[in-house]
Amino acid sequence: MAKKEENNLLNKLVSFTKRRGFVFQSSEIYGGFSSCYDFGPLGVELKNNIKKEWWKKMTRMHDNIVGIDASVLMSPKVWEASGHLTAGFADELVECKKCHHRFRKDLLEKNKCPDCGGELTNPKKFNLMLKTFVGPVEDDSAITYLRPETCQGIYVNFKNVLQSMRAKLPFGIAQIGKSFRNEITPKDFIFRTREFEQMEMQWFCDPKDADKFFEYWLEERMNWYIKLGIKKENLRAKETEKNELAHYAKRAVDIEYKFPFGWKEIEGVHNRGEWDLLNHSKHSGQDLSYTNDEGKKFTPYIIETSAGADRALFTLLCEGFKEIEGGRTETTDSTKEVETVLDINKKLAPVKIAVLPLVKNKEEITKTAKEIFDMLKVHFDCQYDESGSIGRRYRRQDEIGTPYCITVDFETLDNKDVTLRDRDTMKQERVKISELGGKIFNLLTS
Ligand code: GAP
Repeated sequence: MAKKEENNLLNKLVSFTKRRGFVFQSSEIYGGFSSCYDFGPLGVELKNNIKKEWWKKMTRMHDNIVGIDASVLMSPKVWEASGHLTAGFADELVECKKCHHRFRKDLLEKNKCPDCGGELTNPKKFNLMLKTFVGPVEDDSAITYLRPETCQGIYVNFKNVLQSMRAKLPFGIAQIGKSFRNEITPKDFIFRTREFEQMEMQWFCDPKDADKFFEYWLEERMNWYIKLGIKKENLRAKETEKNELAHYAKRAVDIEYKFPFGWKEIEGVHNRGEWDLLNHSKHSGQDLSYTNDEGKKFTPYIIETSAGADRALFTLLCEGFKEIEGGRTETTDSTKEVETVLDINKKLAPVKIAVLPLVKNKEEITKTAKEIFDMLKVHFDCQYDESGSIGRRYRRQDEIGTPYCITVDFETLDNKDVTLRDRDTMKQERVKISELGGKIFNLLTS
């Protein structure tokens, strides 16, 4: 894709997500706060739906994976043991001698400042941990850090889960939560931010099975994105070179998506070996080994799947955002405008059903529509909308990806049925009001 087109699509997404209530810049009325974003009314629904799908797939659909929700603030000793306070969790920072802009060295294509062409300084190591203080006195003994990855909360609870759940290897622990990194160059909208959400699963296994499980989880995770509607050709698995591996990893494969600004990582699958449990054992003095049924004692290996909830959301928006020149052919008040459709998996759509009275000045029609809305909202995310022509209202729902629109019209009053319109095919069918709930449930779960 040409550079201009890429920026175009990214700019369109930024303004679309703001206009329709998906993503807002943090602290916008104060001029914004660099690299932090807020999810608006539709964004939070979409992100919650993504997290719900991940949680269901990783925990409920696997008999041997359980979930936890660990604290963001942890003992600073955790970060000594994990290696995050040392050079291992640092990026190389360079500064332009002319305009003084700072960049991550590994993300630069040339050895010149990308903003003004100036000469760059020698790289300096920059640790990404966000420091804070706990308690009223801000001295060294009160320092702790906002977690940079959720998985450490899992490792320090390995023994608790093992014992309380009477778990046996192989088994997994899943967690969704906020992580924080003092990124040098946050950029590309919500792609790289200083506060983000991770969906991580740590699979504990016998070292001899680690390679086999690595392949299994890589395939599972690729398929998750494909099942959610990401085209195969927009996804790839990229092996990390040995000399680029993170300090904890024996092997790492990035799942990458073809964003408007190039191929970028959306999830990492890592073989962390015994690094984490062994180091937490050493630093805490607790035995974090496992004894199998044959009496063999060893430190389990960990295969990790580490996805970003914000990046998954961004991926789905990039994939689903479609502009149709001249509009689609349906419609009573066809205009020649560009029409936007968010072609997103029905299960993930922030609004599942829009209930639309054909006219707003006929009380029997609006009353029936509101009754249908009240009946359906108990089970599905619904919107009621009576303003504007019916064609405009369909367009507004298509734009936010609502899979089904229900229209209550004059026939409804006689026949007790409504039209049910499908976002993708725009086909309409008459459905009895009494059968609506079951019908929509089947459509959304098929
Ligand atoms: N526990 C391993 C770990 O954290 P990572 O590759 O550093 O591995 C995993 O991060 C995922 O977390 C990434 O693939 C991405 O989806 C998300 N992520 C990491 N840094 C991020 C950032 N600054 N902004 C948004 N998402 C980020």
